[in-house]
Amino acid sequence: MPELWIEGRAVTVPDGTSVLAALQNAGYRTLRRSLAGEPRGALCGMGVCQECRAVIDGRTVRTCQTPVEAGQRVTLVPGGSHDR
Ligand code: FES
Repeated sequence: MPELWIEGRAVTVPDGTSVLAALQNAGYRTLRRSLAGEPRGALCGMGVCQECRAVIDGRTVRTCQTPVEAGQRVTLVPGGSHDR
């Protein structure tokens, strides 16, 4: 069971988990805010909407398309406010 870091907090998830699932299991639903301040989070779950973006080890990625790997450091998109 890999352990990753989400916003500086250690999280352990089952093998094969996507980073999006790890975020949602940790309570993160709003991953960023629109320019108008509306909450935005994962919509499609298949790599199309881009609403699940987060920063992993310095790179912005679509978390629904990214499997968890041990030791990843995940941070939410800078500049937004989040619901957790
Ligand atoms: S949830 Fe739509 S691209 Fe990831």
